[in-house]
Amino acid sequence: MQNTVNILVLVSGNGSNLQALINADQRGELGVGRIAAALADRAGVYALERARLANVPALVKTPNMTLPIARRRQDLSDRVLQFCRERDIGLIVLAGFLSILAGDIIREYAGRIINLHPSLLPKFGGVGMYGERVHQAVLDAGEPESGCTVHLVNAGTDTGPILLQRRVPVLAGDTAATLAERIHHEEHIAIVEGAALMAARIAAS
Ligand code: GAR
Repeated sequence: MQNTVNILVLVSGNGSNLQALINADQRGELGVGRIAAALADRAGVYALERARLANVPALVKTPNMTLPIARRRQDLSDRVLQFCRERDIGLIVLAGFLSILAGDIIREYAGRIINLHPSLLPKFGGVGMYGERVHQAVLDAGEPESGCTVHLVNAGTDTGPILLQRRVPVLAGDTAATLAERIHHEEHIAIVEGAALMAARIAAS
């Protein structure tokens, strides 16, 4: 019998991908993975409510806005790392998490942090590329297709090794909102596949 891998899901907003993970966990689709907690970088977001409704421990750690940006990232990352150590977290899943992790957590959890991004990386990634901005950029570039990527997190932004991608067509008349909705559907499958795959790898390592 393999050990359970405790998963921390980091969120910043609606949390539909957190919901997909919770649903998958309840159906036993995460294999050895188990959603241990959800952590938001801002208060009042619906993702926290989703966690509470599912009896998943939910907490908020907000960036210290009095610090300059680099130290602010480091400080928040260190507090997330502290939580991970205390709760024996084996896998960190960034599911619509808009803060950037930096420093010790990247080294200590190398190969054990995954991020979901709403484009076919390496296209349309990097700092400032999130949510509807990504979809608008895809439309502006006249791309025939888009999709989502689950990748390992390294010290860059959206630059880590790609684990899996799911593709969708860009349709005539698409707006950022309609494209986002089509991609969201694929994200809910991709994030579950990615988390289950990584949990299995980590348990076997
Ligand atoms: C998702 O589309 C995710 O790919 C994106 O935020 C959305 C969160 O949706 N993440 C990024 O843009 C990160 N760069 P959700 O809160 O409903 O899961």
